[in-house]
Amino acid sequence: MSDAHAEPNQHRKESVATANVPSDSPVTDPGQVRGGNTDGSAGKFEGQRVKSGALKKSARYRSRSLSASSADSYSSTSYTGSSSDEDEGVQPHEKAIAAGQPNPPYCVRNVEQHAFGRREIQIAEQEMPGIMALRARAKDDKPLKDAKIVGCTHINAQTAVLIETLAALGATVRWAACNIYSTQNEVAAALAHAGFAIFAWRGESEEAFWWCIDQCSTPTTAWQPNMILDDGGDATHLMLKKHATAFKQIKGIVEESVTGVHRLYQLSKAGKLCVPAMNVNDSVTKTKFDNLYSCRESIIDALKRSTDLMFGGKQAVVCGYGEVGKGCCQALKALGCVVYVTEIDPICALQAAMDGFRVVKLNEVIRQVDIVITATGNKGVVTREHMERMKNGCVVCNMGHSNTEIDVHSLRTPDLLWERVRSQVDHIIWGNGKRIVLLAEGRLANLCCSSLPSFVVSVTAATQALALIELYNAPQHRYKADVYLLPKKMDEYVASLHLPTFDAHLTELTDEQAKYLGLNKVGPFKPNYYRY
Ligand SMILES: NC(=O)c1ccc[n+]([C@@H]2O[C@H](COP(=O)([O-])OP(=O)(O)OC[C@H]3O[C@@H](n4cnc5c(N)ncnc54)[C@H](O)[C@@H]3O)[C@@H](O)[C@H]2O)c1
Repeated sequence: MSDAHAEPNQHRKESVATANVPSDSPVTDPGQVRGGNTDGSAGKFEGQRVKSGALKKSARYRSRSLSASSADSYSSTSYTGSSSDEDEGVQPHEKAIAAGQPNPPYCVRNVEQHAFGRREIQIAEQEMPGIMALRARAKDDKPLKDAKIVGCTHINAQTAVLIETLAALGATVRWAACNIYSTQNEVAAALAHAGFAIFAWRGESEEAFWWCIDQCSTPTTAWQPNMILDDGGDATHLMLKKHATAFKQIKGIVEESVTGVHRLYQLSKAGKLCVPAMNVNDSVTKTKFDNLYSCRESIIDALKRSTDLMFGGKQAVVCGYGEVGKGCCQALKALGCVVYVTEIDPICALQAAMDGFRVVKLNEVIRQVDIVITATGNKGVVTREHMERMKNGCVVCNMGHSNTEIDVHSLRTPDLLWERVRSQVDHIIWGNGKRIVLLAEGRLANLCCSSLPSFVVSVTAATQALALIELYNAPQHRYKADVYLLPKKMDEYVASLHLPTFDAHLTELTDEQAKYLGLNKVGPFKPNYYRY
């Protein structure tokens, strides 16, 4: 990731980005977290000042906080461009410690920004019908009464809606950011102002990152956490390493990201997971919304914002016809593009053909296309050789896996000139004047150049809330110390919470029909192996 061009939306977590990546153990061991000790001492870095620009210095912490867990989930992020003005300078926790408050009730950049943050939260609420419906339906029952949740997710307007929902359902929370760059400071301020124990700001240092999580996960006489809601596995990892006894009291972990889920499975395999965990990353509603519907919308937005491209009549090739590829193809076709697809899998290739797309090898069309989009989850799909043959002005971007799909590294040779023409847009210029347009240096174009719809986050947030409710209320032996998927019925419930937005009317099974199909009238309606 290029820091020189760092912007708020550039630092979203990319869960998709790490889908096939082996475990990424922390570069810094959170079990050895520094500073802000719970005994009240300020820890090793008391009095140290993180100088302006310190962020840029620590490649080590970037690789921890971005490439590892903190770089892996896109699903709860938003970008309003509003938090960019106070990234540098003294870290807020240092101020608190210096003021003799090693364990403050909250720690944010500037609580005075709360009114602005509150308006952001209100805007998000409008487009998050599912989680708001859950709040309205369950607030009297308080299914999370006495739950004490350690939260570690992005902190933005949409997750604020989740946090306030959990509180309305009876939970007490302490919350830290799972990404050092993605916090909307004004939203954190609004939450702190509303009385939440929030520990997050945009541009946290490495120490601050772990200090904030530590403030949430360290048990005290007043705070004995019994649930974890994690996005990337950092809160889980820290508690397990640093507070092993308290960790055993946890009733359940809900994990959202690919990386965090991967870690949980590893812990389980190694026999170290002593509490039940729920993998919400792979619930049907989340996968469909993130991969298909969200990409269908955001590919166009990303390309438009970055290049002002007109799509009608342009030729585009989409590599990979899975969920993401299908979404991209649908959107491009709808705007009048001539779309080609490359695939390795005959089933997906046949689907593409039946959907009206020409299935080709990349080499066959690379000279003529105007847009190249990768969506394979693979590596080295677009090579230097391909880029040599592209025509002048060809736009190249990645919607799939991290930054592996386009061989960007191969373009960093002395014979090519890189010209940054806009944020996230580079022209790569050959000696003969030919230039290609590379978006986001091959990272996920929609995450870097566009914003994620709140509606998609509503689906994820509703899934997370239901998973917490299920684990918290489950009878003792329903879940063992293992990793589970959200029960199908709950997946269906998440979808149903979002239907009223569209005034969609579900058909109910008659008794006879239910008997005929062997189904319960209220679901689940499909077996676990059903492919939607
Ligand atoms: N940009 C985003 O917001 C976003 C959202 C969700 C998922 N993703 C990521 O996008 C990637 C694809 O996700 P998906 O759900 O579509 O996965 P998928 O497995 O359904 O689809 C990938 C397709 O690519 C094909 N493929 C693999 N190697 C290929 C190659 N060399 N050439 C052509 N085709 C090839 C596969 O056969 C498969 O059909 C994943 O890495 C995922 O994590 C991105």
